[in-house]
Amino acid sequence: MAAAEGSTPQAEVMTIASPINLIIASLFVVLLYWHFRPKAPVELPRGPPPVVFRTYTPKTLIKFNGEDNQPVYLAVRGRVFDVTPGRGFYGPGGVYENFAGRDASRGLACQSFDEEMLTKDLSAPLDELKDLDAEQLENLQSWEERFSEKYLVIGKLVAEGDPEAPAS
Ligand code: HEM
Repeated sequence: MAAAEGSTPQAEVMTIASPINLIIASLFVVLLYWHFRPKAPVELPRGPPPVVFRTYTPKTLIKFNGEDNQPVYLAVRGRVFDVTPGRGFYGPGGVYENFAGRDASRGLACQSFDEEMLTKDLSAPLDELKDLDAEQLENLQSWEERFSEKYLVIGKLVAEGDPEAPAS
């Protein structure tokens, strides 16, 4: 105490500015900066893209056949299902690729994925399936139920020229 009392103002400044104090002060400044530094905005994980319910015609639906990594859609009795999770079945090279981008109703009812089950003329009225027998209708019903449990309905299929058809 006696030495401090007798010290000059210059000596006091030297004591305050001693290396240890300077280090502590610098650490304090660094800590302050670290605490209040500008932080990058928090990025929330991205969810799946929103599902938009649309109206399709056979001509607009056909684009969704899974080529070029695009989604895969198919229609059953006027309901369009997003079967992209089943790309292995319906995507290019899949066993049921004929159904991709198409009205699959007749094929499902008749348990056949042959080309002739599909409506050739995309501008024609939709297949009304009027000739199906009870067993085929039952098949179709059970496929529809399975699809409803597994896939999202993302639209409606109408014929080309229908008042509800999207402008092409
Ligand atoms: C040789 C006869 C056939 C065999 C061995 C066979 C086998 C299979 C198998 C193993 C699956 C996967 C089941 C699953 O994991 O959920 C499947 C799914 C499917 N089969 Fe066949 N199948 C045959 C004929 C057909 C026919 C004629 C059709 C025509 C309608 C058809 C339509 C389908 C469809 C649409 C799915 C996929 C359903 C989904 O998206 O989950 N199959 N088949």
